[in-house]
Parts: sequence; C-alpha cells; structure tokens
Amino acid sequence: MSLQVGEVIGVHGTRVTIKIFDDSNKETIFFGGQKHKGVSVREHVSVQRGFREIICIVEGEYLDEQKTEIENGKVSYIRKVESKPIGYIEDGEFHRGIKFLPMIKDAVHLLAESNVQKIYSAKNDPSFTIGKLLKEETAIALPWEHIFNSHVGIFGNTGSGKSNTLAKLFTLLFEQKIDGILGKSNFVIFDFNGEYTNQQITGHEHKSVRKLNTRAPEDKIGLSDSEFWDLETLSILFNATQNTQRPFLNRVLAGRLRFIDIEDSLARYIQSTFRRAFSEKPARGEVLSLLRRMAEFLGHEPLVDFLNKIEFNNSNGQLKTIVDGEHVYFDTDAARYAAHLEPLVNSIDTSAFDAFDELVVRTNLMLVRDLIFGTVQFEHIQPLLKRMDSAISGLRNILEVTSEDTELKLVTVVSLRRCNQEMKKVVPLLIAKHFYNHQKNRVTSPPQQTMHLVIDEAHNILSQQSVREREIWKDYRLELFEEIIKEGRKFGVFLTLASQRPADISPTIVSQVHNFFLHRLVNERDLFLLENTISSLDALSRSQIPNLAKGCCVVTGTAFDLPMLIQVERLPKSLQPDSADVPLKTLWD
Ligand SMILES: Nc1ncnc2c1ncn2[C@@H]1O[C@H](COP(=O)(O)OP(=O)(O)O)[C@@H](O)[C@H]1O
Ligand SMILES: [Mg+2]
Repeated sequence: MSLQVGEVIGVHGTRVTIKIFDDSNKETIFFGGQKHKGVSVREHVSVQRGFREIICIVEGEYLDEQKTEIENGKVSYIRKVESKPIGYIEDGEFHRGIKFLPMIKDAVHLLAESNVQKIYSAKNDPSFTIGKLLKEETAIALPWEHIFNSHVGIFGNTGSGKSNTLAKLFTLLFEQKIDGILGKSNFVIFDFNGEYTNQQITGHEHKSVRKLNTRAPEDKIGLSDSEFWDLETLSILFNATQNTQRPFLNRVLAGRLRFIDIEDSLARYIQSTFRRAFSEKPARGEVLSLLRRMAEFLGHEPLVDFLNKIEFNNSNGQLKTIVDGEHVYFDTDAARYAAHLEPLVNSIDTSAFDAFDELVVRTNLMLVRDLIFGTVQFEHIQPLLKRMDSAISGLRNILEVTSEDTELKLVTVVSLRRCNQEMKKVVPLLIAKHFYNHQKNRVTSPPQQTMHLVIDEAHNILSQQSVREREIWKDYRLELFEEIIKEGRKFGVFLTLASQRPADISPTIVSQVHNFFLHRLVNERDLFLLENTISSLDALSRSQIPNLAKGCCVVTGTAFDLPMLIQVERLPKSLQPDSADVPLKTLWD
C-alpha cells in the first residue's frame, strides 16, 4: 500500500517522464502510517508493473508551459519530472539494472523509507555503517567484505573530510572485526602529516607507530640484509640513473657477493685497493680525492691527516708527500706505500661498520678501481656518490639493516611528518616494497593472509606532475605502485589511497581503483578524470561533487549497486585524525 503521486506520460530510451499530481510537492508526506519523501530531485519513486516495482530516481523537474490543462475554467500548469530507472524490486528484493521499463499511464508511487534502505544496503551486514544517506537520512550499511578486498580511492579537496572518512572506515572495521582479523591481515598506514599517531584507527596494543625523523634518530624501519643489498633498493634510495649509475651499483653488489664468504673480505678489499692506488702509474688526482673523502666519512683522523698531506703532481702523474722532511714518492714497487700508509689503512676497523659505512666504502673503492683501470667515466658516477654522501646521515636516522625479524603488528603507522622532502618520496616506496615483498613471500594461493597499504595524501608519492624530478626516477616509484595495484590482488595486497588531486596521480593507478569515496572536488581536471574513469558514477551524482559539504561523499564502485550520497558520521574527538582546521578565533583572541 503506498501513495500514488502521478503517472508516466513519456518514455524515451531510459528517460521516463512523469506527470506529478498537484499536491505531491510537499517535503514529507505521511501515508498509511509510513513516512514518505515528496517528489524532488534525487528522490525515488516506484512504478508498479505486474508483480514488480520498477524503481526510478528523479533527475529533474520542470513546468510544461505549452501543455496547460483547463480545469473549471482555470489554467493550471503541469508539473513534470524526468527520472531514470535504476532497478526493480521483485519478491521483496532489489535488483540493480534497467531490465524493465515503465509504460505510459503506469501509476507512479512514492517509495517508503524502509524500501530506500532495501535498495541501498539490503544485503549488507547492518552493523557496518559509516553514516547516513544525505537526503533520506537513513543509516546505510556498507558491504565491508567487498570494500576491503578491493583498491579504494578517497578523493576530495583539502579539508573536505577525506582523512576523517578514512579513519572512520578503518576504526569501524577494527571495532567490529578485530578478533577475526588478527593474525590474518596487516595494515600499514602511510601518514605524511602525522595524523594517525595517537589513539586513531586502533589502540596501541595492536598498533606500532613508527615516527621517522631524518634530522634525529627516533623510530626506525627495519630492512633485512638482502633487502638493503639490492639493486632496486639502492637505485631508489640514491636516485640512480638507468644508464650508468645502475650498472655501476650492480657491479658493487656483485663484487660484494662474490667474496662474501671470505673472512674480512671488506678489509682486504680496502687494503688491496689502497695498495693499487698508491703503486699505480700514472696515478690520478680523482683517486686521491675519493680516498680522502672516504677516510673522512669513516672518521679515521690519522688516515685523513696523512692523505691530506699527499700531493698529486698532474704533469708527471706522481703522488708524493713529505715524511720527516724528506720527499716520499709513491712508486710502483709499493715499498713506500707499505712503509708509510699501509699501517694506517690496516687499522681501519671494518667490524664496526654498519650497512651504510660498508656501502659508502664499497662504492668509493669500486670507483677508485674503475678509475685505475680506466673503465669508467668519472663524471657520470660521481654525482651518485655525492647523493649518497648527503642522504646517508638522514637515512641512518630512519632505516636499520638488521637480520632480526620484528613481529608485525596488526597496524603499522609510518609517520613521515619529520622526514625531509627527498626522503618523503623515497621512504614510502621502500616501505611499500618491503611490505609487498613480505606479503608475496608468505602468501599462499588463494591468499589466506592479506596486506593493506593505506596511503593518505597519496599524491605525495604517486603524482605524475612533478617536473622537478628526472624522468628516470619517476619510473621507479610509479612502476612499483602500478605493479601493486595491478598484481596485488593475486597476493592479497590492497591499496587505499586518499588524495586531493586525483588528476595528478598516474592514470594507470586511478583506473585500477575499484571503489570510491568522492568528497568535494572543484577542479575541472579532477572531475573530468572521475567522469572518465569511474563507470559507475552517474551524471547526477557527479554534478553534486563540487558542492558537497564537509564529510559528505558520493560512494560508488564495484562494491555498491548504486552511487549514493553519504554524510559520514564523525568519530569521537579522540579518534579523529589530527588534522582539524586551525581555530584562528581562539588562537588570535
Ligand atoms: N564527517 C564529517 N562530519 C563533519 N565534519 C567533518 C567530517 N569530516 C571532516 N569534517 C571537518 O572537515 C575538517 C577537515 O577534515 P579532514 O578529514 O582532515 O579533511 P581532508 O583529509 O580531506 O583534508 C575537519 O577538521 C572537520 O572539521
Ligand atoms: Mg587529510
């Protein structure tokens, strides 16, 4: 039993025109003890067709001026609405899709609110509710099982409520399902602004917060030996160019591997390289400066002092120094080297080296050897060593190469707030790779365990626009994330991306996202992108995106039958991300 409000007067393709009776434009109508919404844009109406109810959504209304009717001698305009069928209810169940169309003269009824719920969330676990439908104000349960096994995009301008929606989704998930999730899945949150380091998402019992600080040691991310001594890792860390620097690093790695079983292989490598450098003729000035820099890096003062006193004579290619007032030329028989320099070189204690020391030493030595053999163009490799020099003190504060396996907590929050710009780009990549590989190694088929990478402010690492960077470098990070988003599903790796500029993110990535929470977005390019990549986004929902209020979003994608407009409920204060707007009124008062 429901209230008839009009009748169908036209069907053009999938557009249904309905003539609305005079008195049905009220905001709320009570009928048969049920509350109904009046007929206005985005409202639902139903058309009875035999046993089925065809559900249409109102897309626009207008007065038809030409076709007036004369009633009791008075002219009255006809109110018409345009609507679009979205599915039908049969045997009490909603089915999506335009399978049946109304016909002219069919009666149009209002849809009771209980039926609206049936359309949007009938099959869903009723407890997983992040908010209410904006218009109908009915609480809508989301199909969590389809959301969290897909890649999710949360897009919207700054301050539109993305972080709150993200927090709400995961907080609710852990509030309700934590017992089932523990031991099976892990979540890593990339937190560029330090918004999730307190009580957010889940309690500290199941959460490990890693505050990375490039300026001073705080928390560290552990990499295994094999992860660190890896061509890809090193190329990423030090921004190696494809053509010359990468092959160079590759040789460094191969050299290390070749002698790794030999005791003291690094010390021997140092000693034999120094010997060569000081007994080769003609010598090269670059060799001397490389060895000096290396000694400085190691903080070996006596060696630095000695090397600083050595002079290189460009015209005859000789190295000389003055010992006790006498000129000492380093000759090819290495006798002078053995007498004056060797004891210092032998005193370098490699057992105290960490991975970064070893890396700097090995790259410097490799370049020295290449120079001696004349197999390398110094100017191509030197920038790489310079970058290493400048990056390593920061890296040491945030990375640790260890053989220990730390147990993974349910949630790992990686705060990058105190990382310098350069590391903000590099480190997330490394961490993503780390967890992606971790999951690939442990997973069975079909996956019994899952890994969820959650990246707030994802444009920081996934943007394609940054012109400051060289082409060659962009590839690494986009390639990795493109692989994760394309192949990750197989291994049970899922991404959740939040971003204010979806149009800047690589299209390959955006096009692989399955489910979307679209907050207010005004930029034409962003809207254009959404329109072209999200097939489930209809024109009506799309048109509302530029005008959404805070915390309000269009939810659409493969997990949902229909796009819907949801006002996300706020979390209690202590669980909200630390991102609140600055209250200038209190600040400046
Ligand atoms: N669901 C919501 N309901 C009401 N207000 C909200 C909601 N979500 C966010 N806001 C408001 O918007 C501000 C910015 O939210 P935030 O989630 O940090 O946005 P974003 O991550 O998109 O920049 C918050 O401080 C809050 O005042
Ligand atoms: Mg945010």
